[in-house]
Amino acid sequence: MKIVVTGGAGFIGGNFVHYMVKKHPDYEIIVIDKLTYAGNMETLEPVIDKIKFYKADIADRKEIFKIFEENKPDIVVNFAAESHVDRSIENPEVFLKTNILGTQVLMDASREYGVKRYHQVSTDEVYGDLPLDRPDMFFTEDTPIHTSSPYSASKASADLLVQAYHRTFGLPVTISRCSNNYGPYHFPEKLIPLMIANALADKPLPVYGEGLNVRDWLYVEDHCSAIDLIIHNGKVGEVYNIGGHNEKANIYIVKKILELLGKPESLITYVTDRKGHDLRYAIDPTKIHNELGWLPETKFDDGIVKTVNWYLENKDWWEKIISGEYTEYYEKMYGNR
Ligand code: NAD
Ligand code: DAU
Repeated sequence: MKIVVTGGAGFIGGNFVHYMVKKHPDYEIIVIDKLTYAGNMETLEPVIDKIKFYKADIADRKEIFKIFEENKPDIVVNFAAESHVDRSIENPEVFLKTNILGTQVLMDASREYGVKRYHQVSTDEVYGDLPLDRPDMFFTEDTPIHTSSPYSASKASADLLVQAYHRTFGLPVTISRCSNNYGPYHFPEKLIPLMIANALADKPLPVYGEGLNVRDWLYVEDHCSAIDLIIHNGKVGEVYNIGGHNEKANIYIVKKILELLGKPESLITYVTDRKGHDLRYAIDPTKIHNELGWLPETKFDDGIVKTVNWYLENKDWWEKIISGEYTEYYEKMYGNR
């Protein structure tokens, strides 16, 4: 089996490559990644001799068709994306190019080369948000698309295009919509790794608004196992929500990290809220559980300890990232907030 993994040098794509190398040692894994600011070859270092790597932009038609011609993949899993909501508010354009046009190019190549399964890694953010005072409400696969940020609008557009390629051209597709992931190799611009890095440096922990927004956290390996099941056993043309009923307010997460690191809560600084900030995400994972037997394995209390320990043990990986270009980004986003 030959499987193309795009965005494999990023957070979830990287974890997926590690997962697949271990789970399916007989598979040929072909990673395509543009190596944007979020891509890091060091994430792939432990498995580099077991995969084939191409540095390429998924929106570059010529290059992508060349790679497909050379490799004739059976399965394509598209993780490659601009993924940070705050950056999409600053500069939406690249989100539309990569997340929508890149998806189109990958599906055109998949059609041309007879790919047997094209899987689109999407997000719960395409459903918009839920109220904070309705804990009985969850996103199901039938929840209408209703986006808030340029990031989520670009991901929703891609999902619609994927469904159109299935209906119009018969491309064998599946889509998964997952909640917030956490775990190793998470880029430090995102909530959990940012708070760990700042706490370790005794820097202020910037909490947006009052810290009451709720996210539904899933350990990254559980996301990988769900995708592995979907690409092998999922029904063509279907959408699967992925989440583990792990809703937490942001302030809870931040305090938990401080507690685990033995740092004072006085480091918490409330800053100006994100524009259009989604209130609450919560996934109903009934479909993937009933149809494919998927269940998450890692409880949040264990996963957060594993994650904090990973950042303590792998300072080399993230300390390089938070110097250089990231310092400029940080100053721009948080300097005057
Ligand atoms: P990430 O930002 O950590 O990694 C994205 C990767 O894609 C990077 O390696 C980057 O270099 C690569 N990339 C970006 N533009 C590219 C292009 N034009 N061509 C080729 N490669 C390109 O993102 P992530 O958090 O790992 O998210 C992966 C996917 O999962 C995304 O599609 C995202 O929308 C989705 N998702 C993420 C989460 C989450 O909590 N992080 C949850 C649900 C869904
Ligand atoms: O739900 C899935 C989505 O989760 C993915 O599709 C996105 O790619 C991924 O980035 C993530 O989006 P969020 O916007 O939820 O993640 P982020 O880590 O940016 O923020 C999580 C919450 O923490 C959110 O409510 C904003 C808040 N926050 C974030 C940062 C970076 C802060 O309070 N302070 C911060 O400095």
